[in-house]
Amino acid sequence: MSSELIINVVYLISAILFIVGLKRLQSPVTARTGNRIAGLGMLLAVVGTLFLRQILTPAEMIAGLMIGGFIGALMARRVKMTAMPELVAAFNGFGGLASSLVATSEIIQSGADQNLAAFLSVFIGVVTFSGSLIAFLKLSAKMTGNPIQFFGQYIVLGGITLSIIGSITWVFLGGDPITCLWILTGLSLLFGVLIVLPIGGADMPVIVAFLNALSGLAAAATGFVLNNTALIISGALVGASGIMLTNTMCVAMNRKFWQVMIGGFGGDSNDEESGKLVDGKTITSTTPDDTAIMLSYARKVIIVPGYGLAVAQAQHQVRELAEVLESMGVEVKYAVHPVAGRMPGHMNVLLAEANVPYDSLYEMDEINHEFESTDVALVIGANDVVNPAARHDKSSPIYGMPILNVDQAGTVVFLKRSMRPGYSGIPNLLFFEPNTRMLFGDAKDSVSELITEVKAV
Ligand code: TAP
Repeated sequence: MSSELIINVVYLISAILFIVGLKRLQSPVTARTGNRIAGLGMLLAVVGTLFLRQILTPAEMIAGLMIGGFIGALMARRVKMTAMPELVAAFNGFGGLASSLVATSEIIQSGADQNLAAFLSVFIGVVTFSGSLIAFLKLSAKMTGNPIQFFGQYIVLGGITLSIIGSITWVFLGGDPITCLWILTGLSLLFGVLIVLPIGGADMPVIVAFLNALSGLAAAATGFVLNNTALIISGALVGASGIMLTNTMCVAMNRKFWQVMIGGFGGDSNDEESGKLVDGKTITSTTPDDTAIMLSYARKVIIVPGYGLAVAQAQHQVRELAEVLESMGVEVKYAVHPVAGRMPGHMNVLLAEANVPYDSLYEMDEINHEFESTDVALVIGANDVVNPAARHDKSSPIYGMPILNVDQAGTVVFLKRSMRPGYSGIPNLLFFEPNTRMLFGDAKDSVSELITEVKAV
């Protein structure tokens, strides 16, 4: 068998593994094996290419795999769940950079070659790199998460877009490809920065998903440049799934993609004042022992996890509380909003880590009608995803976003540290409703106290 045939068979097997892996990511039950299967596909594609094309010696290959594997494993072990979006942003950026560097070297080596895929790969890859860099800096709070906008921004962006189109067209009209390459790289760097700067914190996860899609498209374009089937297939899969994810998030927040791109929504939400009293309304604080009594005598409790649960790392305590309540005959369910937390599936992953049974987790549409017949909705570190302003306040930026109907439960108990608003920076009037109780404190401490008190009832 020729080595070209073997390599194609290896790529075919890799592609099948990628697709099976992606499919298994659909459910938390199969997601872990899905991840491993897709990883195996990537290993096969990388080793197959390097070995069969004799690009590296076996010793160099093993050294590369060990160094890369070690760095990857270290990052995966060390990263906090709440820092995942910025890690993904960094990965997207490096992916885009890698694709653009390969295409750059092809353009330089092949000189006057008029290869559209190579120039597109440079453009998309560099935009992904610089855009992801800004997303990383914003998400990791190394720069302000507030939207950065300036007068004439869209005129500048329009000018850059036209210049990018012009520079690529120029090569095909006989211009010098190397000169075009450097102009294109500079313009693309600027373009990536300018499209991400105006986007506020609340929309940043959507942009990370979009940049993920772009990194896939850059890889697919590089695949065409190198005539590499594995790269084309894996890039297309990343591109398509990233676009679907971007769309899913926009639907879950009732926002159009163009509204996200225009930016200006949400920023650093540490403003406690904005969550305080509205029109003389007051809140009702509660204590762990009062809440424990309420929970122990309830028939049905729905736990609503949010970003604060991830910050407090209270997932193990939450599972224990649910088990104690269940042992007392209380029915306990978990309601998971599609954009709770800071990344898709954030809450599912967090609760799975604490071995919360998958069949206790319910998606918004499955459980929303049950709040009416629920005695206590225990909202742990969630805020925006239960904010009724989304339902009736037309002036609210989250108007139209589907929410969990916790306000329909007999009593709503919020576990949070203060009156600060959530990610979108919008006050939550539900805090002031007569059937709402505020249990202030770090979620882990509060839930631990609840466990002790419930056991003592
Ligand atoms: P948020 O609305 O951000 O609210 C989280 C709450 O947790 C805050 O009000 C905070 O209040 C509380 N908190 C923080 N640390 C805590 C701790 N240690 N102990 C107890 N409470 C703590 O979260 P959410 O309801 O999950 O909503 C997610 C937000 O992210 C939405 O705005 C959504 O649109 C946005 N978003 C998410 C995604 C994805 S894919 N998940 C994508 C795009 C946008 P205190 O500071 O007072 O404690």
